[in-house]
Amino acid sequence: MKIALLYFSGTGNTKWLAETLFSFLVEKGGTVSVFNLEDDIEFQAKDYDTILVAHPVYGAHVPRLVSDKIQILIQGNIPITVIATFGYVNALGYFAEKKALGRRIDSYFNLKMFNNISTPKMKLGIKNIEKRLSSKAKIEKKIEKISILIMQNKRKIQGIGPQLLVGIRIRKAFREELQKHYQTWGVDPEHCTLCGLCVRECPTHSIIEKDAVFTFHATCTACMRCYNHCPEQAITINNVYADPNIYTRYHGPWK
Ligand SMILES: Cc1cc2nc3c(=O)[nH]c(=O)nc-3n(C[C@H](O)[C@H](O)[C@H](O)COP(=O)(O)O)c2cc1C
Ligand code: SF4
Ligand code: SF4
Repeated sequence: MKIALLYFSGTGNTKWLAETLFSFLVEKGGTVSVFNLEDDIEFQAKDYDTILVAHPVYGAHVPRLVSDKIQILIQGNIPITVIATFGYVNALGYFAEKKALGRRIDSYFNLKMFNNISTPKMKLGIKNIEKRLSSKAKIEKKIEKISILIMQNKRKIQGIGPQLLVGIRIRKAFREELQKHYQTWGVDPEHCTLCGLCVRECPTHSIIEKDAVFTFHATCTACMRCYNHCPEQAITINNVYADPNIYTRYHGPWK
């Protein structure tokens, strides 16, 4: 079976899922090509028997980078399989995902991983590494089960339940917030060393630095990579410096 696995990962959870799923699929005889949606990729849907799309859930939304790219890359009504990663609850789900991507979805899988946001605005906790590592084997088992269903061509829709009704409200509340997320970002000049990492790593090239002045642009997909990866924790939200002793930064599932 020729499989295309297209993924986007802001902070590493979905990247690890893609790598792990790749290994299981290859082990079971699949021929798998992996594409990172943040790269300029050459992709022809007709070259594959099955297309898998993996991405994080953002406030019951598909990240804009993902919906925009998928609509361009996969023309026509080719069915796909989606695997969504999230920290707590996936209130996006199959129906809203279908609408956001504008296509048929044959299978929809939920993979609960770990929250990646802890800010003065979103006072959520980051699970400590021991706790995360203790659930690694269980998550790997879930990914293996997904790989078996894919290889057997078995259709499955996970995660249909009352949380999807709540998701309608969450989506409404988050729509503007996600669109205007770029307006909340800033850089604290007292902490920034002008290392340039945030500019280089931004998946949507939304951060511009000129003469030590940073501007964040509307193409921001709200992935939190700049905030989490800045070595000086200098990225601010609504002009507030987020003390790393209080607001832990997230560096990927096993770090
Ligand atoms: C802007 C934003 C919104 C998020 N919204 C949700 C959410 O609604 N539900 C949830 O369980 N996790 C939510 N999360 C957590 C991510 O979905 C989760 O950490 C995901 O696995 C991150 O994947 P990545 O590391 O591949 O970027 C959100 C994260 C971000 C950055
Ligand atoms: S990553 Fe942090 S320290 Fe480096 S340029 Fe960006 S804000 Fe400044
Ligand atoms: S500006 Fe920050 S949050 Fe927005 S896309 Fe770039 S790295 Fe992600």
